Amino acid sequence: MTLALGIIGAGNIFPAYLRTLKRSRQLRIVGLADAQPAAAQARAAESGLQAMTIDALLASDADLILNLTPPLAHHDVGMKALAAGKHFFTEKPLAATFAQGKELVALAKRKKLRIGCAPDTFLGAGAQATRALIDAGTVGTIRHGTAHFMSHGPDHWHPNPAFFYQPGAGPMFDMGPYYVTHLVHHLGPVASVSGTAHTTHKTRVIPFGDNAGKTIEVDVPTHVISHLTFASGAQIVLTVSFDVWQHGHTPMELYGDDGSILCHDPNLFGGSVKFARQKDAWSRLTDKRPYTTNSRGIGLIDMAQSIEAGRPHRCSESMALHVLEVMERSLDAARTGRPQRITTTCERPAPLEAKLF
Ligand SMILES: NC(=O)c1ccc[n+]([C@@H]2O[C@H](COP(=O)([O-])OP(=O)(O)OC[C@H]3O[C@@H](n4cnc5c(N)ncnc54)[C@H](O)[C@@H]3O)[C@@H](O)[C@H]2O)c1
Repeated sequence: MTLALGIIGAGNIFPAYLRTLKRSRQLRIVGLADAQPAAAQARAAESGLQAMTIDALLASDADLILNLTPPLAHHDVGMKALAAGKHFFTEKPLAATFAQGKELVALAKRKKLRIGCAPDTFLGAGAQATRALIDAGTVGTIRHGTAHFMSHGPDHWHPNPAFFYQPGAGPMFDMGPYYVTHLVHHLGPVASVSGTAHTTHKTRVIPFGDNAGKTIEVDVPTHVISHLTFASGAQIVLTVSFDVWQHGHTPMELYGDDGSILCHDPNLFGGSVKFARQKDAWSRLTDKRPYTTNSRGIGLIDMAQSIEAGRPHRCSESMALHVLEVMERSLDAARTGRPQRITTTCERPAPLEAKLF
């Protein structure tokens, strides 16, 4: 059966989703809406979709709403979609605050609806191969590791970057979801966090595009170091930054009792994964798995298939809420100078054994 999908948010990330959705027959797109009707109309015209108002889309026969709005709007759009009786799949993070995330999950539970949340990059070839390697025990129990996302911020590529420096974004809420989600997928839930954070510059000047020369206020920490203690006992140091021009760290390294893994970039679906047992030379994983290139939207397709099959979906609301709490508590720990206990937990998503479509 085909489920009916409404999309809210016609901005930068919309085309990537559309490319994936067009390849699957799981979802029929009923319409596209945006707070700026002209944005929805322009995207709809170039994609052969119907532009609608948000109210009309919520009143339509859509079974599911895909939310591609900036983080500060996720709670409001999600509450409206759920109140209208629609399942809800959102870009990351689940919401701008943990409290808002809890409200969304509680409403979905009351209404017996599902919430799914990006990132879905962990369904790609790189993360699935890493997960299989860990689960096979090839490098033994993972005890330690590092994860690094460091750049000089999205103002160098995004045409409208102000939201990246507002609550709900910053390097922790914008890029943290990829790294924390991958770590939870590989290692299970986080038990506590500690760390430090800095807002290195209070303002930034947009370097390119229509908004070049405009000053952006920075209301979030832009260099965050978080020490994650997993329920398994694993200890991972995660650094996320919008203040670093260049560096030489790998995106993620995991160290086990019998060896080490050099993981691919969690922002991507594919990429090189290397491992070494003890003092052996590095080997590159060569097993063939699906989704090596940009496949944003496969988590939504997995959720649609799961609704029909009555099985749990992999980009689950419990994992998204857990990741949101880990990120918020990391900033709390930095602000207070005290370790924070994580109150939520989640199951590791089921491995992806075959192509979804
Ligand atoms: N741009 C990327 O490459 C990228 C990659 C991964 C994830 N994301 C995530 O996707 C989401 C959207 O990012 P983007 O880059 O497309 O942003 P964007 O600013 O380019 O587009 C967002 C769109 O949402 C609309 N909008 C804002 N508030 C709204 C509301 N309350 N109701 C309806 N529409 C509203 C805006 O008018 C705009 O057209 C964010 O959560 C971001 O973290 C973006």
